Amino acid sequence: MKTSQYLLGVAAAAGVQLTSAATPAGSSPQVPNTLGLVFANNVVQPGELIAQSVVDAAQPSVYAPNPRNRNRGLKKHKPKKDQTYLFTLVDLNLPYFALPNTTDFASLVPGIGPNRTTRLHWFEYNVHAIPPHQQLQNFSAPIADYQGPMPPQGDEAHNYVLYLFEQPEGWKPEVGAMQRYNNASDSFARMNFSVEALSEQVGKPIAANYFLTENENNTKTA
Ligand SMILES: *[C@@H]1O[C@H](CO)[C@@H](O)[C@H](O)[C@H]1NC(C)=O
Ligand SMILES: *[C@@H]1O[C@H](CO)[C@@H](O)[C@H](O)[C@H]1NC(C)=O
Ligand SMILES: *[C@@H]1O[C@H](CO)[C@@H](O)[C@H](O)[C@H]1NC(C)=O
Ligand SMILES: *[C@@H]1O[C@H](CO)[C@@H](O)[C@H](O)[C@H]1NC(C)=O
Ligand SMILES: *[C@@H]1O[C@H](CO)[C@@H](O)[C@H](O)[C@H]1NC(C)=O
Ligand SMILES: *[C@@H]1O[C@H](CO)[C@@H](O)[C@H](O)[C@H]1NC(C)=O
Repeated sequence: MKTSQYLLGVAAAAGVQLTSAATPAGSSPQVPNTLGLVFANNVVQPGELIAQSVVDAAQPSVYAPNPRNRNRGLKKHKPKKDQTYLFTLVDLNLPYFALPNTTDFASLVPGIGPNRTTRLHWFEYNVHAIPPHQQLQNFSAPIADYQGPMPPQGDEAHNYVLYLFEQPEGWKPEVGAMQRYNNASDSFARMNFSVEALSEQVGKPIAANYFLTENENNTKTA
């Protein structure tokens, strides 16, 4: 048995016992079905706290729900042959204090907790699940390339949620979005990302998973 297969088996089995949802409490949309999310050898249990050094080292591997991996709720979402997917990774705890004071705060998409909004960290489309483990692989350049978590020093741990959607036939990213999201000088282009708005375009997410990360300096003694 390959390591990846073993890890996913363990993750799915443990997930059944330990978790009740694949998305954080108090967030919307709620998604019951869990997907596989693996950083190096670290298989993410929904809601697990993971070190910033691990999540910033490289983008994770992502696996579509797969009956062979024994994820939950799979009867409803048996993988379709030749299904195309898209996915987003979103920080739900971006604090208002990290934003310019000229921001129209009242218009921001709500995050988890008071004075928090969202930030996009990764957005892929034209993604296919590759057998035998249904690992998700992009067949187009990322709409927003992976940016590791960077919660401010002294702030609470942030929730990073990966939402998987079925991609409707003919769906294309908004013109200009890729340029904006991948423009390193435009640091606010990724804030205020609306998963609900995306759901209105493409339908509700079919699976999710999430982890918590805090600034690495929070746990260091001076
Ligand atoms: C808003 O931020 C600018 C630039 O950082 C600063 O000069 C200004 O004093 C701030 N205004 C308020 C009301 O805090
Ligand atoms: C945030 O997003 C919402 C919904 O997409 C939009 O209506 C609002 O204008 C945005 N606010 C800012 C400051 O970008
Ligand atoms: C949220 O921000 C507003 C405006 O800056 C401030 O008055 C309020 O105290 C903040 N609320 C919390 C819970 O931090
Ligand atoms: C898939 O995404 C990676 C970045 O994660 C990118 O380097 C690669 O070119 C993409 N693949 C295709 C076929 O565009
Ligand atoms: C990147 O963002 C900066 C700051 O908003 C802007 O001045 C610049 O024109 C953008 N570059 C491109 C290629 O869009
Ligand atoms: C942690 O603190 C060091 C020293 O001040 C700094 O160089 C580093 O950027 C900080 N790391 C993060 C993730 O904020």
